[in-house]
Amino acid sequence: MEVQNLTKHFPILGGILQRTVGYVYAVNGVNFSINKGETCGLVGESGSGKTTVGKLIVKLLEPTKGKIFFEKNDVTNLKGSDLKLYRRSVQMVFQDPYASLNPRMTVKDMLVEVMRSHKIYEGSEYEYAIKLLERVGMSEEHLYRYPHELSGGQRQRVVIARALCLDPKFIVLDEPTASLDVSVQAQILDLLKELQEKYNYSYLLITHNLAVVKYISKKIIVMYRGIVVEKAETNDLFKEPQHPYTISLLSAIPVPDPTLVRKKIILKGEPPDPIEPIKACPFQDRCPYVMAICKEKSPPEIDLGKGHIVKCWLKA
Ligand SMILES: Nc1ncnc2c1ncn2[C@@H]1O[C@H](COP(=O)(O)OP(=O)(O)OP(=O)(O)O)[C@@H](O)[C@H]1O
Ligand code: SF4
Ligand SMILES: [Mg+2]
Repeated sequence: MEVQNLTKHFPILGGILQRTVGYVYAVNGVNFSINKGETCGLVGESGSGKTTVGKLIVKLLEPTKGKIFFEKNDVTNLKGSDLKLYRRSVQMVFQDPYASLNPRMTVKDMLVEVMRSHKIYEGSEYEYAIKLLERVGMSEEHLYRYPHELSGGQRQRVVIARALCLDPKFIVLDEPTASLDVSVQAQILDLLKELQEKYNYSYLLITHNLAVVKYISKKIIVMYRGIVVEKAETNDLFKEPQHPYTISLLSAIPVPDPTLVRKKIILKGEPPDPIEPIKACPFQDRCPYVMAICKEKSPPEIDLGKGHIVKCWLKA
């Protein structure tokens, strides 16, 4: 999966005539690529545009600008049957498992609904539903349960089973463990890892939890206000973060060794307002190292080697 200059500005409508009076600048010129069988983490604070990037990739939203390539094909403007085919290969697991399951449908009905909508399965729907549940560590006994009769972890497993139903190649996982207890979080992450090893899925893992990305991702992309401010291999990013925003994010992770004290950086200022057009560096109002040039010109992308990219005047 590759995205080039991916941009999404949501129009804000106002007045009786519902004219466009401004924009929410949600995603602003994002570039990245994810190889087959690889997990890439996408991190950033609330409102930084992570879910919007996910929805653009699975084509639930049309980009304002930019291109999306999948298996080297330009899929930005797919329509009709080509789009339907693409949606089988590229799936998204949404932020809240409870909200994404229909409370009035049994697990079996939800799985069968997906099978039928894409007419993918010729054999017994019942047997395929059991096979899918087994793939996510559940069994036949859960087939006739309703969402409220499942635990949080089981609900998330059903959501994953539904995404696997169409035999995808690429899965966007939007905060797949955020609503779960810590012990259950680890089980779901292990399940995702195991599935990836077996079926060679590629994942874009959206989360604000850096411990989760560290556990599962090969690469990490850090976004601030819809802009990629840093991307690198996971180990490099944790060892030597370069962007002041990444450094502040990492400073917030608890250190397991009580003899080590890491200074937590508390950012000054308010989180950014997404309806303000972006001028120069998006982090300027909260950055402890801000310089005059940061307010005048957008920082360039500096390539530090090994795919480590940082967008900051300090490194130019
Ligand atoms: N359909 C929409 N119409 C208008 N604005 C939207 C729409 N969807 C998202 N936004 C706005 O775009 C910005 C980015 O939202 P997004 O949901 O992508 O953030 P996020 O990084 O996923 O945040 P969170 O961590 O809270 O899930 C936010 O300011 C949000 O209010
Ligand atoms: S470009 Fe300037 S304001 Fe932006 S992160 Fe770097 S030092 Fe801070
Ligand atoms: Mg989100």
